Amino acid sequence: MDRLRIIGGQTLSGSVRISGAKNAALPLMAASLLTDQTLILRNVPKVSDIEAMAKLLAELGLDVSDHEANGGSCNIKGDPSICLALSGSGLEGVTASYELVRKMRASVLVMGPLLARLGYACVSMPGGCAIGPRPVDLHVAGLRQLGATILLKEGYIEASAPKGLRGAVIRLPVASVGATENLMMAASLAEGDTIISNAAREPEVADLAKCLVKMGARISGVGTQRLEISGVSSLGGADYTVVSDRIESGTYAIVAGITGGTLDLLGARLEHMQTVADSLARVGVELSNIPDGVRAARVSREICPVTIETEPYPGFPTDMQAQLMALVTLAKGVSTVRERIFENRFMHVNELARMGANISIKGNTAMVVGVSALNGAPVMATDLRASVSLLLAGLAAQGETVINRVYHLDRGYETIVEKLVACGAIVERLRE
Ligand code: UD1
Repeated sequence: MDRLRIIGGQTLSGSVRISGAKNAALPLMAASLLTDQTLILRNVPKVSDIEAMAKLLAELGLDVSDHEANGGSCNIKGDPSICLALSGSGLEGVTASYELVRKMRASVLVMGPLLARLGYACVSMPGGCAIGPRPVDLHVAGLRQLGATILLKEGYIEASAPKGLRGAVIRLPVASVGATENLMMAASLAEGDTIISNAAREPEVADLAKCLVKMGARISGVGTQRLEISGVSSLGGADYTVVSDRIESGTYAIVAGITGGTLDLLGARLEHMQTVADSLARVGVELSNIPDGVRAARVSREICPVTIETEPYPGFPTDMQAQLMALVTLAKGVSTVRERIFENRFMHVNELARMGANISIKGNTAMVVGVSALNGAPVMATDLRASVSLLLAGLAAQGETVINRVYHLDRGYETIVEKLVACGAIVERLRE
């Protein structure tokens, strides 16, 4: 298993090209199951979660190829992102196996599209994962409301609707991102009208809706808590560019903050990260619009403490909680971080403590007493965002940090070592 070795203490400056959002690209790829025509997706990040979804779709009979290799025009020169051509004309499979689903929870997003297009889907239950139980009950309940019969058998969710789905009024008790996406895709091909209230409003959900509209879906209320979908009998292909990754943008903003530098985040969109920007401003890191993205600069000499709690969008994202915590380990004062979306999402805390951080946890709240310095140490990554928080801490720590199990980072951060090195970091991947 590869490891990362970091020598901390450099001030990072320069520019970073922000990739397409993995969490937008994954549901967009699943949307290709809804049509027998070709969906072209541009600005897809080259990360392992995308490879896993491509593998799952190929197993279901989709033709997944590199659009550029097919002769299509694609990327900006030097940009590692991929441009995918997904063609569902040969779709035949209906079973998403445990082998693939267990590696990535987002695999469950194939359920709505398969059911809507073929009238049947069998998807392995994602099971527990490192950040808590993460159930799929809302996906199942919503699909039942759309007329599907669903059985839970031997670890699989077997869904059928031989006569097709029909529109319904669905109120989500929790504004779940994945359930909103699954139900929106399914409702696009249902007969009649569907209303999803208390829908998730994340920019990635809106990105999926915009692409579905390009494919011929009739959706209104995009980006709001109430989505109205008028089902159509079929959807066509489209050419769509994935929105930039607000979580990657926020992570690099914290790179600038924790190392005391200035980074230009090319392609980042400040309007998608306003709550993060507000919290960072209190800490002493300013985000401002520049012509081709967002500039992140540490403007105060000291890092100031802050209180945050994670919430559905537009609140502070749970996917930025670990990174913000790494930053305020070095604040002058006491910060409070409350995690309200997932249980057990404090796995970075013990590892940060090994680097000298002073953090105590009570229930879903962490109290972070700032220290004057962190020390490099060997640490173990346990999930995607926890891993990157250790990397952030390593960039600011005195001496050498080695992060084990780097495959977690590879799931969601495109060419992270190269991007950091280009801004002055001393980081290398130790291959095994
Ligand atoms: C997505 C993101 C993930 C992010 C999360 C919250 C992708 C691929 N992943 O995950 O990075 O951390 O949104 O912003 O986009 N819940 C239920 N029952 C369900 C579904 C969810 O109780 O059927 C609960 C979850 O346990 C959690 C909350 O709802 O407490 C939010 O989860 P959800 O928004 O569904 O997260 P994901 O879509 O899995």
